[in-house]
Amino acid sequence: DKANYRHFMAKEIHEQPEVVGHTLARYLDMASERIALPMKLPFDFKDVQHLSITACGTANYAGYVAKYWFEQFARLPVEIDIASEFRYREAPLRSGDLAIFISQSGETADTLAALRYAKEQGLHTLSVVNVPTSTIARESEVVMPTLAGPEIGVASTKAFTCQLTALAALAIAAGRARGTLTDADEAKLVHGLIELPRLMAAALTHEPQIERLARDISKAQDVLYLGRGTSYPLALEGALKLKEISYIHAEGYAAGELKHGPIALIDEKMPVVVIAPYDRVFEKTVSNMQEVAARGGRIILMTDAKGAEEATVDSMVTIMMPDMPAAFTPMVYAIPVQLLAYHTAVVMGTDVDQPRNLAKSVTVE
Ligand code: M6R
Repeated sequence: DKANYRHFMAKEIHEQPEVVGHTLARYLDMASERIALPMKLPFDFKDVQHLSITACGTANYAGYVAKYWFEQFARLPVEIDIASEFRYREAPLRSGDLAIFISQSGETADTLAALRYAKEQGLHTLSVVNVPTSTIARESEVVMPTLAGPEIGVASTKAFTCQLTALAALAIAAGRARGTLTDADEAKLVHGLIELPRLMAAALTHEPQIERLARDISKAQDVLYLGRGTSYPLALEGALKLKEISYIHAEGYAAGELKHGPIALIDEKMPVVVIAPYDRVFEKTVSNMQEVAARGGRIILMTDAKGAEEATVDSMVTIMMPDMPAAFTPMVYAIPVQLLAYHTAVVMGTDVDQPRNLAKSVTVE
């Protein structure tokens, strides 16, 4: 049931503060501000030398964000793969290492085949799934359910932010086990996670501005999304979301790659969505924005108060996100990214919940 929303997608976007709260409650202890995984791990993170993360589509982008977390918090080398590539490319895998699979439906054919392949190679398998009775959940050694509730819209929204939440908890647990995070680091990170529902709710208040912006975007032929660090996979996700429901061509790029090709596309007609919380790499992203502005590109900047103050670039719409610690910005910035795709699709008059040619769960390869 869509409650009072026009589409399931809108309802699911708005449910995010609540369902992320549910996922948090499953994986951490709010009172002590520590990670408290409810399941026993059949491996020790200290013995894991290499982590592979495999998924498709939006779930793959959640994994891509998590790569940054596992590397930073647990100093664990991570390879992120698209399931259809992982299963055929004969990557050298080490038995005893860990492979993580991420899937909303738990039925995606390529992800399931990749899981079976990893098992055959003697890897430990852990899946982050939204449907706990699914095949991927059943066949994995360890399951971390995301408590997003049923996701009906073909475009994945709340499953994505819940996947990120579960993966963040696991990356912190890995850091603790490997001795790369102190108790104080853990407490700080967990505190950041606990703040997420409130910050996501704050992000949702920008919907009217994004709705107005969507009228503009709906006239574009192509849209470019840029980000650095964890905002890079979010840029990929933004472009996927826009193309799958509005049918407007979009591309996500690491901001630093701009000069290596995509800058040739930029003219006055090209909206460029820049996802740039004020973080370690912010200044670098500002110089990329200047390159876009110098070529007449129209910049839509998603940032916070400090970022807005520091980004002195013309021709810009700024979508102001709340101030927050850098680690978990993807969960909060996902909201304007999703809303922009959603409202653009509504303006275009497409079938938002059932976009053409797509299925909610891709059970054939
Ligand atoms: O059910 P899964 O998470 O395994 O699905 C993976 C992709 O098919 C899915 O994320 C797809 O990319 C969505 N339509 C994106 O919105």
